[in-house]
This record gives sequence, C-alpha cells and structure tokens, in this order.
Amino acid sequence: MTEKIYEAARLLKKSNFTTAFTGAGISVESGIPPFRGDGGLWNKYNPEVLEIGYFLNNPAISWQVIKDIFYDFFDSAKPNKAHHVLARMELEGLLGRVITQNIDNLHQEAGSRMVYEFHGNSKTLVCRGCNRSYKAADISFDYTPLTCRECGGLLKPDFVFFGESIPQIPLNAAYEAATISDIFLIIGTTGEVMPANQFPAIAKTHGSTIIEINPEPSLYTNVITDIFIQGKAGEMMERLENALFSTPLDNDQDCVN
Ligand code: APR
Repeated sequence: MTEKIYEAARLLKKSNFTTAFTGAGISVESGIPPFRGDGGLWNKYNPEVLEIGYFLNNPAISWQVIKDIFYDFFDSAKPNKAHHVLARMELEGLLGRVITQNIDNLHQEAGSRMVYEFHGNSKTLVCRGCNRSYKAADISFDYTPLTCRECGGLLKPDFVFFGESIPQIPLNAAYEAATISDIFLIIGTTGEVMPANQFPAIAKTHGSTIIEINPEPSLYTNVITDIFIQGKAGEMMERLENALFSTPLDNDQDCVN
C-alpha cells in the first residue's frame, strides 16, 4: 500500500490539473452513513421518498424520512481528515476542483473553495410555490411537511431528487474536469448512480490517470482505476498528505503548479 501512496503522490505533484470526485464514503468518518453497503441508508429507508413525483404527492411521508436522514444527522457532522487534506491540496496548488455527489457541505466547511455539488446542497430549502429560499439553520424541523412562511407552499430541500435534472453549473464543471484533468482522484463512491458516475470514465478516455480510495472495490476499480488505494478515506488521505508534503521532491520530480 505504501508504494501505491507514494506513486500517487509522485503523480499528483506532477499533475497540471487534478480533480477530486467524491461520494458518500468520504463523509462516513464524519458520522454520516453511506447510502449503500454496510449501514447504508437505503437498507433502512425506501429511496422512493427522494423521487420527485413521490415527494410532491406524499409530502408528509417524504418529509418525515428526509428529516430523519438529512437533518437529524447532518447538522452535527464536521469535516474529517479527508476533507481537510483536499482543502490543503487546493491551497498548495495540487487540486483544481472537487466534484462531489454529496450534499453535506463538508468540503466547503473544510476550506475547499472550488467545489461543484452535482446533487445540490441540503443547507438550503426552496418553496415550490413562490421560490423563496430558506437556510436550513434558520427553520424548525419540528413539524413536517415544512411550508413557506410567505405563501404556505411546500418547502423542498435544495438538493437533486431522483427524477430531477442536474444543475447546469456543476454539470458543465464535471464535463470540463473530465476533459482537462491529468488525474481524477475518486474517493468513496460506488459509481452506481447516473449521470454522476460517468465522469471518471469520460476522464479516462481523455487520458486521465484514475486514483481511487475506497475500503471496498467499486464499479470503477477493476475497469478504469490505475491506482487503487484500499482503505478508509480519512486514514488514506492522511498518509497521502504525508507523502505529498512531508517528503522532499525526488530529484526526478519537476516542480509543476
Ligand atoms: N472511506 C472511503 N469510502 C468509504 C468509507 C470510508 N470510510 N466507507 C464507505 N465507503 C465507500 C463504500 O465502499 C461505497 O463505495 O463509500 C461508498 C458509498 O457508496 P454510496 O452510499 O452508494 O455513495 P455514493 O456512491 O456517493 O452514492 C451516489 O447515490 O443515493 C444517491 O444521491 C445519492 O449522491 C448519492 C449517490
């Protein structure tokens, strides 16, 4: 494993543009359960509650689950070492952007600035009636379904439900990243959910080196991954940080970035 981490660090130091592509796994060590696999939320809840048609027709049922999953849990979660190392890599010019499938805001709270949220963000809610937006921190979740103080309309978390389209800005950012990145660093995703899951494969076709961190193999591992660092994000990113910033550049390294 050590030589894989040092090889990854060597390539990252030489990369002109690196993109981190993250999923729920990077936030597991922050106390947020994944959706699939051991302790996965979809083992306990039916994902249909996050289907837009179901939500609009059954707001009370959907909102009760949404509150349990996203608001009882997420508010206490803090960024873990993996989020902080990505923020440091950006600061030191070793990371161009984060494309995240997560809606937990933890990349931003760790200090990452170039973050594109492919599935939106849970910290804001929008009224389906008058489009007024609310900060989740400013409203009470005691009584669901949540309604708008202005027009009484149904409030919806500002993240992408199944059946909704991906916002244009992160979609464009993901396509651009897939065409310009020397390295795609995949952290903590099964690679199961369309259309997010296509970007590492598009990057591969454009010549990106794929580095993946996950305790388990994903749909990418035996197909496009060049360096598979098997382990938890927090621990592996700490070791990658040491390899990146605590060891002097080898003499065959040119300083890029
Ligand atoms: N460190 C790194 N990876 C981890 C860790 C950890 N500590 N713990 C679990 N994982 C990995 C799992 O092995 C799995 O590959 O994280 C992944 C979690 O998979 P999912 O829960 O399916 O998360 P993700 O791939 O991001 O799901 C994509 O599905 O339901 C939708 O919108 C939701 O954005 C989500 C999308």
